[in-house]
Amino acid sequence: MTLFECRDVHYAYPGRVPALCGVDLTIETGTRVALIGANGSGKSTLLSLLDGLAFPQRGSIRFAGQELTEAALQDEAFALDFRRRVGLVFQNPDVQLFCPTVREDIAFGPLQLGIDAATIERRVEALAQEFHLEALLDRPPHRLSVGEKRKVAFATALAIEPEVLLLDEPTAGLDPRTATHLIERLHDAVHQGRTMVIATHDLHILADIADVVYVFGQDRRLAASGTPEEILTNHDLLEANNLIHTHTRHIHDHRQYRWGG
Ligand SMILES: Nc1ncnc2c1ncn2[C@@H]1O[C@H](COP(=O)(O)OP(=O)(O)OP(=O)(O)O)[C@@H](O)[C@H]1O
Ligand SMILES: [Mg+2]
Repeated sequence: MTLFECRDVHYAYPGRVPALCGVDLTIETGTRVALIGANGSGKSTLLSLLDGLAFPQRGSIRFAGQELTEAALQDEAFALDFRRRVGLVFQNPDVQLFCPTVREDIAFGPLQLGIDAATIERRVEALAQEFHLEALLDRPPHRLSVGEKRKVAFATALAIEPEVLLLDEPTAGLDPRTATHLIERLHDAVHQGRTMVIATHDLHILADIADVVYVFGQDRRLAASGTPEEILTNHDLLEANNLIHTHTRHIHDHRQYRWGG
């Protein structure tokens, strides 16, 4: 079943800074989709549109058949259902965390959705244990390390137990153990029928985190889509879209991790 359907999506920021210039893509229920592309190619912008935080100025985005518009999200019943089903982890965790304590931040989403206190408490404890946040629960989020903040931000999104997780650079700045745990967690989530859309610069994790990869070009349209293997073995495509750099190929040619390129 099609969950998100983007048709000819255009979006420009105030001051006419173009961010998306005619993006078409489809996200099927229960799949893992990776968005890759150079800095400024529109990945985060697309995630915020998929989360209904902004709306296409031309073209359309449908979620489960319903067009995502400002008017649709002003409808309280639709907005509540949408917020319960879709969660976004921002690229910058400072945007996500605003409560006086970590505990309150993790509880915030479920509280907004009217979930009972005992269930919220259980979820907070379970997530704190899972992400080793127990010692941080009563601390102010803005005084944590960047990686700690990212873990808390991830916990705030998971606390809602959304069907769809939109993740913006989830592994950036995480230590290897935490990053690996996160990747395994994403893997499990799909087995539970969840859908995942992940923007990332970590090409070497693509095969672990994605079924389908969309490549954003510098013209802010999609340059290609395919399986991780199809995309990662297409050297010309990666180079043309600023995803690998020939002069440092021994470092950046991520094919070596998986396909012995
Ligand atoms: N808040 C904003 N106001 C104005 N322009 C913005 C804003 N956020 C992003 N842009 C611009 O929109 C374009 C797309 O940015 P976006 O953040 O979506 O890229 P990205 O692919 O996520 O990049 P990165 O890999 O650096 O995270 C860029 O040209 C950027 O300068
Ligand atoms: Mg981004």
